[in-house]
Amino acid sequence: MRRWRWISLTLLFCSPAFAQYNALPNWIQEQAEVSTVRMYWNISPPGAARGIVIASPSRSDPDYYFHWTRDSALVMESFYMIPESRVSTLAQASAFTDYLELSRELQLTQTLTGLGEPRFHTSGAPYNGDWARPQNDGPALRALSFLRAPASLRALPSSRELLPLVLRTDLRFLIDHRAEPNFDLWEEIKGDHFYTRVVQLAALRLAAANFDPAWGIPAADLQNGIQYFERVLAQHWRGDKKIYSANLNRMGGGENKYTDLDTAVVLGALHAGFASGPFSIRDERVLATAAALEEMFRRIYAINARGPGTAIGRYEDDVYFGGNPWYITTAAFAELHYKLAASLRSKPDFFVTELNLSFLRNALGNEALQPGMNLKDHPAAMKALVARGDQFLARVKLHTPADGGLSEQFSRVNGEPVSARDLTWSYAGFLTAVAARESAIR
Ligand code: NOJ
Ligand code: NOJ
Repeated sequence: MRRWRWISLTLLFCSPAFAQYNALPNWIQEQAEVSTVRMYWNISPPGAARGIVIASPSRSDPDYYFHWTRDSALVMESFYMIPESRVSTLAQASAFTDYLELSRELQLTQTLTGLGEPRFHTSGAPYNGDWARPQNDGPALRALSFLRAPASLRALPSSRELLPLVLRTDLRFLIDHRAEPNFDLWEEIKGDHFYTRVVQLAALRLAAANFDPAWGIPAADLQNGIQYFERVLAQHWRGDKKIYSANLNRMGGGENKYTDLDTAVVLGALHAGFASGPFSIRDERVLATAAALEEMFRRIYAINARGPGTAIGRYEDDVYFGGNPWYITTAAFAELHYKLAASLRSKPDFFVTELNLSFLRNALGNEALQPGMNLKDHPAAMKALVARGDQFLARVKLHTPADGGLSEQFSRVNGEPVSARDLTWSYAGFLTAVAARESAIR
């Protein structure tokens, strides 16, 4: 009897169906470990000033051997979130301190455009060559990385004096430069941007919620900034196209970009991290934009003719390195589905509307879904969202080389890695998606 039980169990676990079923979760765990290690290599690498986060070790074609304010803030935030089982708290604490000290130095560094300067040499010296500057999402993301860092890191003795100074400087900048036209996160278009504005709003809201008089910023200034960004962000909605437009009031750059539809909007909703309301991942307009993006990328990339999932890029007329899908944007779509699943647990009431209908139909595979229905009455919704998110990670898996190295892009034609190798942000984006998956299935 017993022996038969063992044999049938063994048969079950060895069956191709089970291997298939188990392959993705196992790969996700392995890839999370590889990503952690490879991301860590790019934080304070040998020869660079402490606290420097290189965008990639690639020194030519493209040369990404620089510290970008945006990339480094996103990377550090993702690094603090890695569970203790994968990285020591000591490594996190020392990376946090290095990054905090470097941040203060960079804030005090004379640059061509002040705090909106997008990137620095690995020595910490300003990069004064030709570049798309300023990029005002940087200070907002940096402030968010500190405001959202675990309390244990914010309470380190090294933080006591520096943290309020660093936050004061970035928050003051957000308030004072709120209406300044600047370049978008893709470093292409000068104007006003959904991504930049939504992370600016997030930083001010979080600062207001965790108000600290040590910053020396009047609470009323924070409120004025918040109201400003809420108002101008609403202007990004394009009722005719049913999408949030990524860029408004274009003043230059982006010569090849004719479309408003850009994954920057989804990244913005994710990085801002609002639990609900406008510009959150529950916003029907964000979900309408995501559905429109997926449909477009499915149409334009040859590799999307076959599954799994959909490879996602930046925007339709992208030409940078051939305009391919990116790892961060594909992982962001996984993260969006996981976060929505997790949010149904804390707030089960979620109504289907005209605008979120196609996103939800895709995700739940339920054609019977109609506006007015409440997802609370669909107990399978959470699982279906996680399964749909998994499809995007399955797509990432398909184009990840055996050594787990993540470049910036993968070819729209044959899925091979393209552009900068070991892009630090690719690892960070993968890891935040995995963290979102873990909270969705816990
Ligand atoms: C154009 C690309 O689209 C952008 O993302 C990049 O950072 C700049 N060129 C600089 O290489
Ligand atoms: C190009 C991307 O468009 C930009 O967002 C990023 O900061 C740099 N590469 C460095 O990774």
